[in-house]
Amino acid sequence: MTGTSTRASPPTTAREPEHLTRNRRVDAAHTPRRQNQMKSIAQIVQNNRRLLAAYEDKVQPRFLSRYAREPMDAAAVYRKLRALDPGPDAPARVLDLGCGTGWLARMLAAEPRYRRANIVGYDLSPNAIRIARERAAVDGLGARTEFHVADVLAPLAGEPGRTDEIWVCGALHQMKDAGAALSRVAGLLADGGIAYVQTFAEDPDVNERVDMAVMAKMGHRVFRGSELEDLAEANGLKLGGASHAGMVYFCTLTKKSAIGEAGK
Ligand SMILES: C[S@@+](CC[C@H](N)C(=O)[O-])C[C@H]1O[C@@H](n2cnc3c(N)ncnc32)[C@H](O)[C@@H]1O
Repeated sequence: MTGTSTRASPPTTAREPEHLTRNRRVDAAHTPRRQNQMKSIAQIVQNNRRLLAAYEDKVQPRFLSRYAREPMDAAAVYRKLRALDPGPDAPARVLDLGCGTGWLARMLAAEPRYRRANIVGYDLSPNAIRIARERAAVDGLGARTEFHVADVLAPLAGEPGRTDEIWVCGALHQMKDAGAALSRVAGLLADGGIAYVQTFAEDPDVNERVDMAVMAKMGHRVFRGSELEDLAEANGLKLGGASHAGMVYFCTLTKKSAIGEAGK
């Protein structure tokens, strides 16, 4: 990915749309607390400028391939998730939670089916958000995407129950409280909306104890057995499709409807 000094911040004119002003308030609200929130090794590393500059091209594919036990990069993650469910025809509101440097939001924004969508990425890391804005601007997607520093476990600016697609790639296992994160996803999703999640789960076919211990040390949770499905159920979501590549786990989640499924 090309490095650049161009910065694509939200516009600052008096005629700025209300949702942008609101999101800047979210940035401000979360900035003072973020140092306390970035506690795990993984989260501290995830704010490192040098690592972030190389993350999409070098770090992420190596890391994923190591645990997937097959070649795996961002595009493969996207294909695996999309293969589980095509999603709504013309999504209008799309969120990328724990967006990092924004590859996924850019990938979606470049697709014709998202041409009318509002695509917003949130991440705890100010350096990741800065790079995400720069790269979207370089790709000519600055007007189609927004990126904001925010803790997704705290209330977000988006209106509840109105998001068509929520993507959580490589991030749920780093969040301090995965149950709270899933509850946030359920709260933001519209009825009929879908969440695409790529995370880590124990590979049922291989003894992964050493890998799992290393991951835990770094601050990555590795879900075991039906743990993720149970956590989703307990937080208002229902598992759709799921697939594995080694310890790299892909699934879709939909909202349990208020009537009928909430108690199941
Ligand atoms: C491994 S990176 C993945 C980034 C990107 N989604 C990707 O697939 O490359 C995990 C990201 O989750 C972010 N993160 C962890 N906890 C978070 C939280 N509570 N709120 C927002 N972002 C969070 C980290 O800052 C980090 O950028």
